[in-house]
Amino acid sequence: MSGVDAINEVIAREAPALWSALSPLGRTCFYPPDIPFQAAQARGKRFNATIGQITDGAGRILPLPAIAEALGRFGDDDLNRALLYSPIDGLPELRERWHAWHRLASQELPPSSLPVVTCGLTHGLALAADLFGGSGRTVVVPAPFWGNYRQIFGIRTGATVLPAPAYDEERRWRPTALADAIAELPAGEPVVAVLNVPSNPGGYSPTVAERRLLVESLIRVADTRPLVVVCDDAYSGLVFEPDIPAGSLFWELIGSHPNLVPIRIAGSTKEFVFFGGRVGFVTFPWASGTPLMDAIENKVRGLIRAGVGSPTALSQITLLQAMRRDDAAEQVRKVVELMAARYRVLRAALDQHADPSLFRVLPFNSGVFAVLELAPGLHANEARLELLESRDVGLVSIGDRYLRVAFCSIDEHAIPELVERTVAGLREIAARTTLTSSAP
Ligand SMILES: Cc1ncc(COP(=O)(O)O)c(C=O)c1O
Repeated sequence: MSGVDAINEVIAREAPALWSALSPLGRTCFYPPDIPFQAAQARGKRFNATIGQITDGAGRILPLPAIAEALGRFGDDDLNRALLYSPIDGLPELRERWHAWHRLASQELPPSSLPVVTCGLTHGLALAADLFGGSGRTVVVPAPFWGNYRQIFGIRTGATVLPAPAYDEERRWRPTALADAIAELPAGEPVVAVLNVPSNPGGYSPTVAERRLLVESLIRVADTRPLVVVCDDAYSGLVFEPDIPAGSLFWELIGSHPNLVPIRIAGSTKEFVFFGGRVGFVTFPWASGTPLMDAIENKVRGLIRAGVGSPTALSQITLLQAMRRDDAAEQVRKVVELMAARYRVLRAALDQHADPSLFRVLPFNSGVFAVLELAPGLHANEARLELLESRDVGLVSIGDRYLRVAFCSIDEHAIPELVERTVAGLREIAARTTLTSSAP
């Protein structure tokens, strides 16, 4: 039996739902026993002439002084690890620390894998797309959604991206949005659902009751078909209302149904304000060290090796240095507080300038965004361009009707003026539109 057949057999036996949801690429990919594999076997040998890294002959990098000096604060060991290749699945200490980080808040979380390190969350999502996307597969995403999902799942792999309206007529968030959209698909067919909480663009996290309805609805879906739920936790922890749970739904979905496979994509981009670092993590709902997780990690390592080679060691060491500090959690908490303050000011300003003839604000309570749904007659991209041009305000338009405000990038004291300018700009466009449409 070939290497890939052996790991496929383990997955088909131990996790039949995961097996039926794997794409053709997901089925054929594996980690080849070539250079990194053989170099890992030779690590620590007196003569290790396997990998093409420039070292002193004892496994330590021979850096250019110019680079070593630029990274002067790292210390010898970290400098060495930062400049050598990272293991394909990431530095073990960082994987352990990220695993422990999300368990700080609750010791009672179910077992999960050691996270695999990726080049940002986008790369983690792309790995999920490679494993479970592909032509003929439907990926359901609550709408409006982060447009890159279409690129990652649809354009890259040929999957069909199916938008599921996230809000009802009254603009209430719909816990059963994913399940309702999936119900329209042919019975039995495996499906992928993306769960992005707190959401981009919506800035919404469900209440306790809504979470229960959501989880129950996904379990009902899993009664009828294999269901992979990709939990995109990019904005993890950025929750600003005391009664809104901040924990990832990933943990609640683990073990909820044999047909339901949650996969967690998270990372340091927003959580550690490390946008340029590109350190993301993919976590699976089974403990590491089991034949099943060995088989899954084998496939993921194969895809990473074929995509980016290995994740960036320099960024991993930088993040590690932050995570080793006793005050890391406190520093992250301060960022959440800063975002919470901006959130409150934005809420107040939007309440003060509420004008349903111009826009409605979709419910928001978390994350770093709020969405204005424009009144009929106003077009989002035209409004965006006009706000840029005449009000010195940059927002993002999504589809025809939505404008997204990223309050994370506006100083708290500037937020009221941002809202005033936006509303004044919309009012001017609306007045002009009315004039033009009533002209003879
Ligand atoms: C919902 C969501 N997922 C994933 C990402 C990508 O994160 P990264 O920059 O780490 O690739 C973003 C970035 O904006 C996002 O908003």
